[in-house]
Amino acid sequence: MNQQKTEKLRFRPRARIIRTIGDQLISGPEAAVIELVKNSYDADASYVTVKFVPPLIPGAGSIVVQDDGHGMALEDIQEKWMEPATTAKVNNRRSPSKNRVMMGSKGIGRFAAAKLGARMSLYSISERKGQRNEVLIPDLDWSIFSAEAYLDTIAIDYSVGETEARVRTH
Ligand SMILES: Nc1ncnc2c1ncn2[C@@H]1O[C@H](COP(=O)(O)OP(=O)(O)O)[C@@H](O)[C@H]1O
Ligand SMILES: [Mg+2]
Repeated sequence: MNQQKTEKLRFRPRARIIRTIGDQLISGPEAAVIELVKNSYDADASYVTVKFVPPLIPGAGSIVVQDDGHGMALEDIQEKWMEPATTAKVNNRRSPSKNRVMMGSKGIGRFAAAKLGARMSLYSISERKGQRNEVLIPDLDWSIFSAEAYLDTIAIDYSVGETEARVRTH
């Protein structure tokens, strides 16, 4: 090269990277459930239930994973759940109230949910500074991550509001 010009190149992930690190790299459905249960443990849950709602055939039925942990406020969903490779558990290795050694660290476990079903919904109740809120992502269709789209163009519908709801304790 005669004329040297320094420019920057940037990575721009395709949306399908979510499927690659989620359902394609995860070994099986058992490992996928374990990732979700580990997240409940890290969230200081006292229990986590895994409920199978038949018929468990493609296109019907569901698997419901529910815990009574600290949940996610909208900021947590935005800054942790929506960030692939989130560093949420990298610097802080202890859970907030029960001081558990965190099981997660890589910031990719939740994407294993794509191994368990074609679609998912996320419902989270959280209490922060006395304010009790619920956030709902009603329908996340994992197939939107399979197309040619770039990851930064994918948008997901949600609703948020105050709530009186409490998670059932067992
Ligand atoms: N059941 C849950 N309760 C509260 N927060 C959760 C739950 N599941 C996931 N999260 C949040 O989503 C983030 C991403 O989860 P995950 O992909 O498993 O990565 P990691 O556990 O390695 O941080 C977690 O760091 C946590 O902040
Ligand atoms: Mg995890």
